[in-house]
Amino acid sequence: MTDTTAWDTYARKKPGGRREKNAKGETTWFNWTQYPDHGPGIEVLGEAERVALLELGCGSGGNLAHAATLGHRAVGVDVSPIQLKAARELWGGLPGLELHQRGALDFMSETAERFDAVYSVFGAIWFTDPGQMFPAIRQVLKPGGVLAFSQRPPVEGCYGCQASYINQADDPNPLVVKRWDYTPDMWTGLLKEHGFRYALANEITPPEGWKTGTLLVRALAPGA
Ligand SMILES: C[S@@+](CC[C@H](N)C(=O)[O-])C[C@H]1O[C@@H](n2cnc3c(N)ncnc32)[C@H](O)[C@@H]1O
Repeated sequence: MTDTTAWDTYARKKPGGRREKNAKGETTWFNWTQYPDHGPGIEVLGEAERVALLELGCGSGGNLAHAATLGHRAVGVDVSPIQLKAARELWGGLPGLELHQRGALDFMSETAERFDAVYSVFGAIWFTDPGQMFPAIRQVLKPGGVLAFSQRPPVEGCYGCQASYINQADDPNPLVVKRWDYTPDMWTGLLKEHGFRYALANEITPPEGWKTGTLLVRALAPGA
C-alpha cells in the first residue's frame, strides 16, 4: 500500500479550499499558478464543450470543480485521503465530478476510460518520474488529447529528480518527496521522446513584486 504520510502532512499544513469568490466575483475558477487570479485558465485544455478531463493530484479539487461546473466530466485522483476528504466535503455533490483516492500511476493502469485531456497543477506529474508518467498518460489519453501541467520552474543547474522537504511540526526531521525539475527545452524534448506532439513549455511571468514564475507545459497525444 502507498505510504501517504508525507502528502497527508502537507495537506494538514495547507488545509484545502479557496476564497469564496475570486477577483472577478466567480465562485469557481481555474488557476495554473501559485498566485491568486493570475495566468491563463481552463482554455489551456481546449475549447470543446462537455469533454472528459482527468486531474492527477487534484488536492482539494478547486480546479476540478470549475471543470465540472462548465459541464465537463471531471475525474480527480489524489493519493492523500486528507486531500480527498476535503475535496468531497467542498465539491462532492457537483454533477460530473468524480474523485478517487489513488496514486496517479495506479489509477491510470486500472481505468478503462479514455480522456480528452489529462492535467496536473503542481500535482502528481511534478512528483513522478516522467519516464513512468508519460507512457501512462499516453495510455489514457484519446488520440489527439491534451496533456498540460504546471509547476515551479527549476533552480538553475538542478535538473532531474530533486528532493522536496515537508516539515512536520515540532520534528526537526522533514519528510521527503521526490519531484522532477527540468528546463522548458528539456520538458519538450522528453515529451517528444515519449511520442507527444506540438510540445510547448513556457514560463508564466509572476505578478508584479514576485520573483518566481510558473512553468506551464502542454502537448498533444499522437493521432486524430
Ligand atoms: C502541491 S499539492 C497540489 C494540489 C492541487 N493540484 C492544487 O493545485 O492545490 C500536490 C498534490 O499532489 C498529490 N500527489 C502527489 N503525488 C501523487 C501521486 N503519485 N498520485 C496522486 N496524487 C499525488 C498530493 O497528495 C497533493 O494533493
